[in-house]
Amino acid sequence: MTDLPYAMAATKAGGPEVLQRTDLSLPEPGPGEVQIAHRAIGVNFIDCYFRSGLYPWPDPQQLIPGAEASGVVSAVGAGVTGLKEGDRVAYTLPNNAYASARNIAAAHVVRLPDGISFETAASVMLKGLTTRYLLKDSFSLQPGQRVLFHAAAGGVGLIAGQWMNAIGVESVGTAGGPEKCALAKSHGFADVIDYRQEDFLEATRQMVPEGFHVVYDSVGKDTLLKSLKCLKLHGTLVNFGQSSGAVTDFKISDLAAGSFHITRPVLFHFTSNRQWLERGTAELFGLIMDGRIRVQTHSAPLTTAAKVHADLEGRRTTGSTVLIP
Ligand SMILES: NC(=O)c1ccc[n+]([C@@H]2O[C@H](COP(=O)([O-])OP(=O)(O)OC[C@H]3O[C@@H](n4cnc5c(N)ncnc54)[C@H](OP(=O)(O)O)[C@@H]3O)[C@@H](O)[C@H]2O)c1
Repeated sequence: MTDLPYAMAATKAGGPEVLQRTDLSLPEPGPGEVQIAHRAIGVNFIDCYFRSGLYPWPDPQQLIPGAEASGVVSAVGAGVTGLKEGDRVAYTLPNNAYASARNIAAAHVVRLPDGISFETAASVMLKGLTTRYLLKDSFSLQPGQRVLFHAAAGGVGLIAGQWMNAIGVESVGTAGGPEKCALAKSHGFADVIDYRQEDFLEATRQMVPEGFHVVYDSVGKDTLLKSLKCLKLHGTLVNFGQSSGAVTDFKISDLAAGSFHITRPVLFHFTSNRQWLERGTAELFGLIMDGRIRVQTHSAPLTTAAKVHADLEGRRTTGSTVLIP
């Protein structure tokens, strides 16, 4: 590589300002690894959870956040088959993506079809594959079922609305503010409730009195107990995040109100299965290339990662944001 590689890294947990530009000394890729020159890096809430210290750091001395990216293979380690220098690739894996280049185990990397741009790939590897397991694995959605999906205008939300539409499911979303509600509606949601203005439990009881087959809740503290009350008998609550803070007041006995099911899944438990990863990305890229999922991507320089974090945590973003090195 001609330019010195760099990363946006933190040496202590804290607010967005702890992310600082740092030079990297990148060794040659080891056995089973490839080196990737990044072209686009996705920003996700999980990056904020690590940066703030909510999630423990793999190396207590330094954190390079970032869990999805795309780029070009620039070197190949011993024993790697199926990837070569110059291949366009992408991956999702917790941490170390906020860098101009990195080494990574080839087992996590997929090749990009020509129809998928670097920006799109970096917007969907984590968020789109999350959507895939939410709709197909955590709960196997069937046409005609009713779904409530919180934070419908977010990165995961806009992909999920369109994917549910493709499955034939009528979904209700929630989002904060009229612009976000309109955006979610234009991305597949049949109805969207502004949950900053209206009580979503009251609103959904009017719309769907019998309750929902499944509620997808990534907001956590502010919504989870009410989300349970939106379910029909035997319904399922999928809690996959905590954008508003960790849930502390949930009790197992809360499920007795309707013989409810609850699950708290994590993407990387699905992507660690190579067959699932290949099947999931093939499905996701297929839906994007045939136009059934449009990806809303905003780009910003990698060096502005701190501002992008502040915007994401301040509820000022919609869709996906990618950082460009
Ligand atoms: N478990 C997994 O495998 C997995 C994988 C991917 C993502 N996730 C989770 O899914 C969620 C969505 O991720 P994303 O990256 O696509 O983020 P996002 O949805 O683009 O952003 C989070 C959204 O949550 C809403 N929100 C509600 N209360 C909030 C608060 N107090 N502070 C901040 N945001 C609040 C905001 O939308 P409104 O303004 O519309 O309320 C905000 O835009 C996150 O919780 C993330 O951790 C989990």
